[in-house]
Order: sequence, then C-alpha cells, then structure tokens
Amino acid sequence: MRSGSEFLDNGSVTKLIIDCDPGVDDAVALFLAFASRDLEILAVTTVGGNVGADLTARNARIIRQIAGREDVPVHAGATRPLVREPVEADHFHGESGLGDLPVFEPDAPLAAAHAVDVIVETVMAAAPGTVTLAVTGPMTNLALAIIREPALAHRLARVVVMGGARTEGGNITPSAEYNIYADPHAAHVVFSSRCPCVVLGLDATHQVRATAGRVAAIRAAGTPAAQAAAGVIDFSNGIERDLVGGRSAPMHDPCVIAYILAPHLFTTRPCGLQVETNSALTLGHTAVEFRLADPSAATVQWVTEVDADGVFGLITERLARS
Ligand code: RIB
Ligand code: CA
Repeated sequence: MRSGSEFLDNGSVTKLIIDCDPGVDDAVALFLAFASRDLEILAVTTVGGNVGADLTARNARIIRQIAGREDVPVHAGATRPLVREPVEADHFHGESGLGDLPVFEPDAPLAAAHAVDVIVETVMAAAPGTVTLAVTGPMTNLALAIIREPALAHRLARVVVMGGARTEGGNITPSAEYNIYADPHAAHVVFSSRCPCVVLGLDATHQVRATAGRVAAIRAAGTPAAQAAAGVIDFSNGIERDLVGGRSAPMHDPCVIAYILAPHLFTTRPCGLQVETNSALTLGHTAVEFRLADPSAATVQWVTEVDADGVFGLITERLARS
C-alpha cells in the first residue's frame, strides 16, 4: 500500500460535476470526492440506472449526508434511457441500490432544477475548459445536455467516464459493459460529439479489486464515510462471490474520481470509440480502435493500466480525512 504522501493536495482545485447512479461503487466514488477538498464539486446529478431514478437521487443525498457535505446540491435527472427500455442492475447493488447500508430519508432535499439544465447552465456560465464532468452511470443526462446545447461538448474541460470494455468483454452481456448497455444511444451521442473524454472501461477497473486487506485499511480509517464505504464494498464482495464466483469486486466508479485526483496512477492511449446501437446481440458494445492515422486528433483517451495500490491508498488517505 502506497503511503498517503503522494496524494498531498498540490493546491490546485478542479471544478467538477458528478453524474451518477448510486449504486454501491458510485457511493464509494462520491465518498472519495466529498472527502477531497482539491475538488470544487459544483453539483451532483443523478440518473436512473442501477436502480430507479427516485432511488439514485435519494441515495446520492444519503451519501452526501453521511459525508457531511450538504453544501453540495443534488439534482435529479433522466428517469429513462434515450431510446431503449430501462435495464437496472439491482442484482449487483441490492434493492435499495446501496447494498445493505441502512437507508433513510435524508434531511437536505433535492435541489429544484433538472440535472440536464444544471449541466448546461453551469458549464456554459463557466469559463471555457474549466469544468470537468465525471460520469459513473448511463450517459443519458450528458447526451441530453449536448443535444440541448451542442456547444457544451467543447466547453467542458473533459469528461471522465466509467464505461465500455475492450479486452475484458462485457459484464451485463457477453459483449457490453452496463453503463453503455443501459443507454447505448446516449453513449453514441456523447462520443460522436467529439467532446474530450477519458474512458475507464472494464479493462481498467477490473485491475482495481477490493481485496480483504484493502477493505480493512479503508475501514481502519475510522470515519463515518470510511465505515460506510467499507460496508458497501463488503456487500459488493459478497455479490462478486455469489454471482460471479470471484473473490474481490472491481471498484469501477471510484476509479473515475481517482483519475481526476491522481492521473499519474493511470496509463491512457488515444483511440477511436464507437458504440453498437443496432444489434440485439451486441447492443452497447464499445469498439475501441487504437490504429489511428493521426492519434493526436483523437478525442478519446482509453485507460489501459491502473496502479491499484495507488488508487486504494488514495481512497484510504482521503476517507480518513472526511
Ligand atoms: O459496469 C460497471 C458500472 O455499472 C458501474 O458504474 C456500476 O455502478 C454500474 O452502474
Ligand atoms: Ca455507476
């Protein structure tokens, strides 16, 4: 386990919107973000995905309250994908969406504006290239924002998204990863907009496994956020054992926030990325192409390698502060 010293804040602050579908791994990603004062979280926006939109919005507020960050507004967004019928993943996240974490009605309410309006208005009001968008669920809200305001795609600093797969195959079908499969048309809108994206697919997140030692280190951090994060990770490990036959669950969504906080822990490669939107058999497949005539013209960076110890060291170090 790397020490926390590599992760001392370097004084720069990233303006960030987090679009998510909590979801147990979204919850850990939110805990990491809420504990990181080198992030200026402008808003958390939610989308239907792992569980229904009403639950993802409530769950984001629950995580916010445990983290003590009611200063950050939570805005609910799209309740269904652009075209296909909704497909949830409660078999991985539990009926509540937060595993066996005790759920409650949070004190602070949802903010009034719709997530898509907040994404458009926040990014367009900010100086060009100053707002980063983290996406850890289906890309419906971002796609709707780009459709509503096409200039958004090139005003964002970048989009850092968990989705897709190249060498790892699929986790919801043999050829598709859940976030893309849940709204393939939205993913097509986003990637074809040529907005600058860093994509963490299963090729990356399957390298970041919640082993018993890593979970114990998070729990030992002792804060309410660390305890809650360790609890939902334990739930994920139980599902991994029972449904997948594995031992340690991949920490998909925390990798998005870890990339924003500590990009040196990740290796990226320029690529072309297209999404299958027609085939019933391969719907949501991400075709990742490294053979480019001009790699410098690529708008998508595909994450190929991750320092997993570094990611867990960052999570542990930050949650100890929260
Ligand atoms: O495939 C993993 C992704 O799907 C994660 O974002 C998880 O939360 C689920 O939404
Ligand atoms: Ca998610």
